[in-house]
Parts: sequence; C-alpha cells; structure tokens
Amino acid sequence: MIKKGIILAGGIGTRMSPLTKAVNKQLLPIYDKPLIFYPLSILMLAKIKDILIIVNKGQLGQYKKLLPNGKNLGLKITYLEQDKPRGLPDAFVIGKKFIGKDNVAMILGDNFFYGQNFTQKLLKCAKLSSGAKVLLHNVQRPELYGVAKIDKKNKIIKIVEKPKKFVSNYAVTGLYFFDNEVIDYAKKLKPSKRGEVEIIDLLNNYKRGNRLSADFIGRGGAWLDTGSIEDFYKTTAFVQAIEDRQGLKIACIEEIAYLNKWIGLKEIKKSIKFYGNCNYSNYLKKLIN
Ligand code: DAU
Repeated sequence: MIKKGIILAGGIGTRMSPLTKAVNKQLLPIYDKPLIFYPLSILMLAKIKDILIIVNKGQLGQYKKLLPNGKNLGLKITYLEQDKPRGLPDAFVIGKKFIGKDNVAMILGDNFFYGQNFTQKLLKCAKLSSGAKVLLHNVQRPELYGVAKIDKKNKIIKIVEKPKKFVSNYAVTGLYFFDNEVIDYAKKLKPSKRGEVEIIDLLNNYKRGNRLSADFIGRGGAWLDTGSIEDFYKTTAFVQAIEDRQGLKIACIEEIAYLNKWIGLKEIKKSIKFYGNCNYSNYLKKLIN
C-alpha cells in the first residue's frame, strides 16, 4: 500500500488575483472550509497518513496556523516550500527526501473529488506496487486539461497536455500514483515551451515503458478543478447542495480521521476548541454525541 502522499499547494494563483494576492489559493473557502481540506481528505480516505504539503515560498505561516503538524488528525504533516512554480513534477524533486525509497501519491491542491464508492477506488489505486496510475474523467472541455486517449481495453495510447486539436474527452485528473522511479524521471525532465516541467512528460516516460495504467471516475462521480473564480463558485455550490441536503459534511478531516480510528474523542474535543464557536464545530459536536 502507498503510505506517503504529497499535496502540491503552491502556484502563484494569478488567474484568481486579487483574491490570491495575500492568501494562498488553497486557503480560500469552498463553501464552509478551506480548499486544502478537500485534497487532504482524499489522501486520508486512501489511508495515507504521512503527508507532505508543498507551499509557495513565504506562505508557510498561513498553513501552519490552520494545520500545524497533523497530530490532532493522527497524521504526520511535513511542509516544504517551492521557490517558484517550476511545474508539477518539481514536487518529486523537492520531496525526494520525504519520499525516500517508497511509492507515493500526489494530489493537486486545487482538485476536488466526490462520488459513490470513491474510497474503494482510492484504496485500490493505493495498492500500486510498480508503474504509475492516473484517474480519468469525462469532461466537456478537454482542451483545458491533460488528456488521454484510450483503446478498447482501456489502455492509454496517447497522453497530451491541453491539446488544441481534439484527442478525447478523457481529462487526466490531478491525482496520481507513482512508484519510486518517479524521482529519477522527474529529475531528468526538461522544461516545455511554456517554461515548466510537465506532468504529461513524466507520465509519457511511464507510458513508453508500458507502465502507465488508468482508472476511471464514472458518471456517478464528480471531479472539479478549482482553477478559476467561476470554478470556485461552482464547487462551492456543489458542496453546499450536498451538505445542506444530507446534513453530512464533505471533507470533514476530523470525521475521516475518527472513522479511520486514527483519533478519538479527545482529539475531536481539541479541534472543537481550536475552531471555536462555528457550524463546523457544531458538526463535530454532533459527531461525538
Ligand atoms: O487539474 C488537473 C490538471 O492539472 C491536469 O489535467 C493537467 O494535466 C495538469 O498539468 C494540471 O493543469 P493545470 O493547468 O490545472 O495546472 P496548474 O498550473 O493550474 O497547477 C495546478 C495546481 O498545482 C495549482 O493548485 C497550483 C499548483 N502548482 C502548480 C505549479 C505549476 C504548484 O504548487 N507548483 C507549480 O509549480
């Protein structure tokens, strides 16, 4: 089982300026909690407890106020800074020591996943022992994402970043599972024309070795990328609709830790005190009653 996970939560967030001038994008709200809770909850649902959060240089203080070290969630959270947005595979160079000799999952800090049986899918993906695995999702505008073309046996035959010409409707979502070779592959990558090292080039290295596999988030699942202000509001509306209807929270990280049996009542009570008098705390109070 993959035991280590990275959340890539840097980036300069220019598309969302001025909102992101003083605050990192992943700390802005998606309905009732900061965006970072959602990708963090996905790693936790995959039973990953050892987590590296990569943040922009100078923004560490903001994160530590919210998620100091993970103890209260039964996690081990490590922080590292990225001095400039060199591209997604840079995470494996920055995180080389953290990864050590293990396999690793990476989730982009602005990605949102939700759906029936998604936890089962995550646990299956986290079983990866060699190669790389990506999750694909059907989208209306594939030109905005990394895109994969698959054959009849669901094997990836082509994978390209933001293609101008139509390739397929399958977007490569921002959740990746890699074996340890990812560090070597990432180190050798050269920047693309836009000046960044590209995740698709990294995945193509695995594809060439016939070591890239795909799983699918079906129609019953949701994948939203909160890259723009519009997407932020769409995701907020989605979370609000589900939470208000069900009375259950999406990405309540204490609830997940509790259900995983990583923490007990004592830690939840501490969290209630930490968050103060708010709806989120009221939800936690209900949980332990
Ligand atoms: O969301 C899925 C898509 O994410 C994939 O389909 C694409 O293949 C992949 O390249 C990526 O595309 P984006 O255009 O959405 O990537 P973006 O540059 O917006 O970065 C995604 C997140 O990663 C964002 O929260 C900022 C953070 N980031 C990005 C870069 C380039 C970093 O922390 N450091 C970086 O160097």
